[in-house]
Amino acid sequence: MSADFGDNHPDFAAWWMPFTANRQFKADPRLLTEASGMYYRAADGQEVLDGTSGLWCVNAGHGRAEIAEAVARQLMTLDFAPSFQMGHPIGFEFAQALTQIAPAGLDRVFFTNSGSESVDTALKIAMAYHRARGEGQRVKLIGREKGYHGVGFGGLSVGGLVNNRRSFVTLPGVDHLPSTYDLARNAFSRGLPLHGAERADALEGLIALHGAETIAAVIVEPVAGSAGVLPPPVGYLARLREICDRHGILLIFDEVITGFGRVGAAFASQAFGVTPDIMTTAKGLTNGVIPMGAVFVRRAVHDAVVQGPEGAIEFFHGYTYSGHPVACAAGLAVLEIYAREDLFARVAAIAPLWEAALHGLRAAPHVIDIRNVGLMGAIELTPRDGAPGARGYEVLVGALKAGLLVRATGDTIALSPPLIISQAEIDKLTGILGGVLAGIA
Ligand SMILES: Cc1ncc(COP(=O)(O)O)c(C=O)c1O
Repeated sequence: MSADFGDNHPDFAAWWMPFTANRQFKADPRLLTEASGMYYRAADGQEVLDGTSGLWCVNAGHGRAEIAEAVARQLMTLDFAPSFQMGHPIGFEFAQALTQIAPAGLDRVFFTNSGSESVDTALKIAMAYHRARGEGQRVKLIGREKGYHGVGFGGLSVGGLVNNRRSFVTLPGVDHLPSTYDLARNAFSRGLPLHGAERADALEGLIALHGAETIAAVIVEPVAGSAGVLPPPVGYLARLREICDRHGILLIFDEVITGFGRVGAAFASQAFGVTPDIMTTAKGLTNGVIPMGAVFVRRAVHDAVVQGPEGAIEFFHGYTYSGHPVACAAGLAVLEIYAREDLFARVAAIAPLWEAALHGLRAAPHVIDIRNVGLMGAIELTPRDGAPGARGYEVLVGALKAGLLVRATGDTIALSPPLIISQAEIDKLTGILGGVLAGIA
């Protein structure tokens, strides 16, 4: 993968890279230089099949001309406008368009610039909601072990990945549900695992411990993504919903990964038939081409906060780039592609092929679990003795050499190709992976 840059070798020192082993990477950099459709091109000229939609975000595939044209047009029409006490038409147009595909009732939209910002915004909306209703003591938050909700202090605190947390202080008043991960009972489940709905009942225990009247919200990913693709056990999300309702606690779904078609409907909440009160999104919102996030809020939650004297700002929160006009232009063009190509329904149609192809790797060396839902998948490998994560990293490097981009989280290989993937490309993806798995120790 290392390219011969001749005299034009970039200096790798200055960019402190995110979530990267910087020194290892810079000793042997892996650079992507172009992208089109289902493929990247690497610096050495090799075509690389995109098995991860970049970073779970390029759902409609790369290099879509309609998005580029919409962005260019918007840049020359209105490149930026403030959204504090001012507005611009395309922001309202995009929010309105999003409500057309949103889960029923979630028809108020707050714009952010990333998944992390969406999460922190949602947590603050939950607290503001209770305060506005005279229950200002409801400030505690419940996340879940193995959850990933970005890297802001709010998201970090409700998140449950130890490496992300151990170096930092986290918010007080946060507790965690147990993860739904259960290899012993659920290994090689196809789609939603059958066992584990009862793990939602742990919420009753946390309520008994803290008092319902102190808890603002529960936040979970409908499918845990960064933890290695953990689809929810059958009945689990509905049970969480029921317990939250019984205790006046808001339920937040973090759909930063699952939103915009990934599991065969616009949002996972629709695919799984459970509607949250607040939903966080980003990534596929703009196909990843311009950073943007959006928080969808149930009308009643919005209305409880947006009240009081008409001249008073109701919610002291927002970002310079909330509803950035260029991001809105990109998002509108992306929504048009999703609709015109019926990409969310396409996922539902192609998911059985995806499932069959992935589970075809069951007998490959080191494989201890395969998980899938929609166009998400994970292959979990047994860790090498004394070197957890080494095998996963070797698969990442080996697959790239063979022309496939995957994501490794520890020893789990996570997959989330663009929603336009063909059957032949699915076969190619699993073929490359099978070969790489056969070749590593
Ligand atoms: C479920 C979930 N929430 C939040 C985030 C954070 O998003 P961002 O990296 O855009 O801040 C991610 C990123 O992968 C995510 O998967």
